[in-house]
Amino acid sequence: MRIVLGVGGGIAAYKAASLLRLFTEAGHDVTVIPTEAAGKFVGVATWEALSGHPVSNSVFDEVPQVRHVRLGHEADLVVVAPATADLLAKAATGQADDLLTTTLLMARGPVLFAPAMHTEMWQHAATQANVETLRSRGATVLEPATGRLTGPDSGPGRLPEPEAIRDAALALASAAGVAGTVQDHTLLAAPSGSTPLAGRTITISAGGTREALDPVRFLGNRSSGKQGAALAAAALEAGARVRFLAAHMDVEPPAGVELVSVESALELRDAALAALPDSDVVIMAAAVADFRPAEVSGTKIKKRDDQEAPVVRLVRNPDILHELVDTRNASGGEQLLVGFAAETGDEEGGVMEHAQAKLERKGCDLLVVNHVGVGRVFGQDDNSVVILSLRGAEPQSASGSKADVAAAVIDRIGAELSRVVPPA
Ligand code: CTP
Repeated sequence: MRIVLGVGGGIAAYKAASLLRLFTEAGHDVTVIPTEAAGKFVGVATWEALSGHPVSNSVFDEVPQVRHVRLGHEADLVVVAPATADLLAKAATGQADDLLTTTLLMARGPVLFAPAMHTEMWQHAATQANVETLRSRGATVLEPATGRLTGPDSGPGRLPEPEAIRDAALALASAAGVAGTVQDHTLLAAPSGSTPLAGRTITISAGGTREALDPVRFLGNRSSGKQGAALAAAALEAGARVRFLAAHMDVEPPAGVELVSVESALELRDAALAALPDSDVVIMAAAVADFRPAEVSGTKIKKRDDQEAPVVRLVRNPDILHELVDTRNASGGEQLLVGFAAETGDEEGGVMEHAQAKLERKGCDLLVVNHVGVGRVFGQDDNSVVILSLRGAEPQSASGSKADVAAAVIDRIGAELSRVVPPA
């Protein structure tokens, strides 16, 4: 997992060096971003030696690589320890005057603040309001430990011990579905009920439908089912019950799903509509054939020397996602419906224009868009997507392995669920 460790300017900065060690020893790749004030307590050489990466807090270093954008985007997890009153205030008000604060604004994965400051500063209404703001936006702000502070004073305000921060941070990443967190540490399993997906039922369709021409031939597509399988794995990891509607797949569905195998678009439609009433979320990741042969021969179609090659007439398949949206709306259901759009640009518009039009046409809540071409996306291990929301939230991009993309999509679904359908 890629972790950004932000270090604020407080005496507890020295404890962040132990935290860094705990992360790197567990195999995580950590980039440290100290604030300028942190440099008064611990020098850059310490961070560089322990992390194995160059360390800077300037947005003007590595300008061509747009480091302030890249670090936040690529981080699976951002941990700020110690988070000073000043840093919490900057984060709460969205200030971006150095590399750490810009990274916090760019981060799309889970963010954890471990505060450390004098008791009066922690208890001040301004700090408490900032903590409230950050929590309401989805960040995790740990309660500081109670005990001896820098001077003779003692009370709440101590930085929690590095092991406690590590455990909280990794549990947060695991709950957010960040791939590769569960194996890292025994304490990582998300406490059940701690993720918005725990106990929810997610139906995921995956793979490519096959439309029969005769008993041995079909019209198919290049979908491998890898993205759907990765989504199922991420949803399971987040504690969901996963019903997996599998069309043709090149990979095995993950262990632990409730498997429903289907062949054609019509079979998938029946399975999806049957699954809708008791699902909290339906993700249509399957590549559904838009057309099927109008006639299916009951016997193998033979070539004959005295006949022309047959012409296959096609008819439209139902749009399953659209039907799910209509059925949900007609029944007053609250299921979150998620589509995947495989798009190429053409003379009528670019990828995103087509995707936005598709989102509105289908009426689903989220549309995960990827750019396809022959040999691109289908069957490949890596992927790059943009998540569009019908409610007009900012488009969110995610890239990396299909597991990384799946984790980001499941994370986003969790965030939508806690907003749209409050847990019972
Ligand atoms: N989908 C569906 N039923 C169909 C076709 C697609 O439910 N008959 C779903 C897919 O599972 C996916 C989303 O709709 O979640 C978008 O699929 P895509 O193939 O990109 O869109 P199409 O509806 O085929 O649109 P177009 O042909 O205009 O690209």
